[in-house]
Amino acid sequence: MDLSGKTAIITGAASGIGAAVAETLAKAGASGICLADIDTPGAERVASRLGCPSLVVETNVSVSDSVKSMVDATVNRFGKVDILVNNAGVAPVVRWPDVTEENWRDVLDINLNGAFHCLLHVMEHMKSQRWGRVINISSVGAFKGSITAHPAYGVSKAGLIAMTKSAAKELAEFGILVNSVSPGTIDTPLTQNNFTPEEQAMFVEDSVLKRRGSPFEIADAVLFLASERSTYITGTTIHVNGGSLLV
Ligand SMILES: NC(=O)c1ccc[n+]([C@@H]2O[C@H](COP(=O)([O-])OP(=O)(O)OC[C@H]3O[C@@H](n4cnc5c(N)ncnc54)[C@H](O)[C@@H]3O)[C@@H](O)[C@H]2O)c1
Repeated sequence: MDLSGKTAIITGAASGIGAAVAETLAKAGASGICLADIDTPGAERVASRLGCPSLVVETNVSVSDSVKSMVDATVNRFGKVDILVNNAGVAPVVRWPDVTEENWRDVLDINLNGAFHCLLHVMEHMKSQRWGRVINISSVGAFKGSITAHPAYGVSKAGLIAMTKSAAKELAEFGILVNSVSPGTIDTPLTQNNFTPEEQAMFVEDSVLKRRGSPFEIADAVLFLASERSTYITGTTIHVNGGSLLV
């Protein structure tokens, strides 16, 4: 799966799945990668090991102007955006009794509105070149509902599934394919820091393969959807969850 000549924006690329996606797309020959994250030092560290032209832009995906500046910077540097991976996300542990309007909105602003802002600002560039790949990182929580994470987490991830479908219909005529990847429990700082060992063990038990996934197992699905090996796939979700929807 050769990405030579292709440029990508990956949000949340400083850590976990986003970092693995950046490394995987770079290995596949991408000609330029923008790492967009609020954690600039973390993104710089990932960029330094990519071995392909890269750009780090401090970006808060929940702020539309911040995303627009990042997309403009990417186009200025690489001349175009071919691939958008909407990966930035948060999963705070908040149970229903502690849900407030504010923390509900915070989760939706980052996980769902953040992806919308990125899509909005890359769309015209992709349309004019009549080629594009958008990959939204959803979650098994879209299908099961949040278990320990904030209730808005599952809502935000289900919103991404619906946005994937409507954007796929709207953008097909411009050669833009829009899909999502829905991870199960993946071994990243998000799961390590947010959930207790007992909760993590419960997630593992909740899969057929009885283990956590690697961020690179998600990155491989993203690479497939970004590549020319997936030209008849749009508006759908690839589940990468060790079978956790089966049990
Ligand atoms: N790890 C899992 O088990 C799992 C499962 C399902 C879905 N996901 C999804 O995968 C994505 C990546 O998760 P991860 O496990 O790699 O998490 P992570 O915490 O390791 O990485 C998330 C990255 O997003 C960045 N980020 C957070 N808020 C941001 C903002 N407002 N603007 C820009 N960047 C921001 C963080 O700085 C961080 O670098 C998330 O959308 C998450 O919901 C993860």
